[in-house]
Amino acid sequence: MEKRSIPFSPPDITELEIAEVVDTLRSGWITTGPRTKLLERRLAAFIETGCNDIDCTTHENIERYSNRVVCLNSATAAEELNLRILGIREGDEVLVPAYTYTASASAAIHCGATVKFIDIQRDGDPVTHMPEMDYEQLEASITEKTKAIIPVDIGGIVCDYEKIFEIAERKKNLFKPVESDQTPLGDLSSCIQHAIGRVAVVADCAHSLGASRLVRGQKKNCGAIADFSSFSFHAVKNFTTAEGGAAAWRPLEGIDNAEIYKMFQLLSLHGQNKDALAKTRLGAWEYDIIGPWYKCNMTDIMAAIGLRQLDRYPDLLARRAEIIREYDSVCDELGVFHLVHRTADMDSSKHLYLIRVPGISSETRNQIIEKMAEQGVATNVHYKPLPMMTAYGRDCSKYPNAYDYYHNLVTLPLHTLLSDEDVEYVCWILKTVLKEVRG
Ligand SMILES: Cc1ncc(COP(=O)(O)O)c(C=O)c1O
Repeated sequence: MEKRSIPFSPPDITELEIAEVVDTLRSGWITTGPRTKLLERRLAAFIETGCNDIDCTTHENIERYSNRVVCLNSATAAEELNLRILGIREGDEVLVPAYTYTASASAAIHCGATVKFIDIQRDGDPVTHMPEMDYEQLEASITEKTKAIIPVDIGGIVCDYEKIFEIAERKKNLFKPVESDQTPLGDLSSCIQHAIGRVAVVADCAHSLGASRLVRGQKKNCGAIADFSSFSFHAVKNFTTAEGGAAAWRPLEGIDNAEIYKMFQLLSLHGQNKDALAKTRLGAWEYDIIGPWYKCNMTDIMAAIGLRQLDRYPDLLARRAEIIREYDSVCDELGVFHLVHRTADMDSSKHLYLIRVPGISSETRNQIIEKMAEQGVATNVHYKPLPMMTAYGRDCSKYPNAYDYYHNLVTLPLHTLLSDEDVEYVCWILKTVLKEVRG
């Protein structure tokens, strides 16, 4: 086979996205404005119904889908604001899988909380092989200080939220909701913690936009499962706005969604009580600063990309599913473990294709990566466990399952610019390289 050059995860941008960005640039409104608000409503509709083509400009749908999703400049910002709105602060503990990307943990640290890592199940979930948390360890780790659990839908595979909620419910008696400090944010956080009444489930859905799972017999899309969720629209993700992300939450009894949405706006725009659009109204210059907060809003240029990506998203997911079918059959033939992206009760967003080669050392894994790169195939590793990183202490001894999962793992390229011939080439190179290293 002739040598090809296969990048790991290039963005899939068409003339549709380009034209929408050009229209935005010509429109006179380039920062947060009408396109961002429309994208928020369309994402809310997509999360609720799974449909990407609901007209969110009608009066009825503006009412229905507003104040449900907030678009921001990253998933990290979305997770941090989720935790801030929940009132997570110094003295609180947040439980995070040892097997994830740093943002899942760093957002909690930025809030002043202590992160406690949870090891994963040995070899991951028995059905999907996704590196999910060890749920017994999770339950045993909940103390009176625990305020949030951050499950991570790695590769777009949805965690077992039913189990996570059951654990949080069982440990409800340990939970002490924060009392208000009499500030607007403190009031809201206290109301939210009282309304939830247990450790909050704050999902890292950076990979899982469009994924779904049966929860108590009902199909639910990510964003509508956990109490709060964060999505990433970074350039390498299935759905991109170049950089970008969104926060979503489930409605809480007794709390107006508009109140939560308003607090997200304040937290993401310097705590300023009027956004740029509101200030353009005649004579409406004056504003107040409610808190010394963040600057992490999404611009309309980013939202323009997202609007057209959302139009294309079902087709993008379908193409990913086709590629996965090819990879699955080759990996099964080679005796290589791989993530299972579809089960009877779960359909992933097909974001990453993780494989694990049984019986090899981490040196051999690195050789596989190098040899595939020499043949033009870019691969990756998702992830080096966080406790191995300098920022988290460089000691994985308490997380043996996370280390074991990582040591023989390679992530294959999975994206919608891959042609059938590219997929065939990746499979052929994988077979050839494995034959070489296995001897
Ligand atoms: C699991 C996970 N969480 C969070 C993030 C952070 O996303 P963002 O770059 O949009 O902040 C990433 C980014 O790759 C991720 O993989």
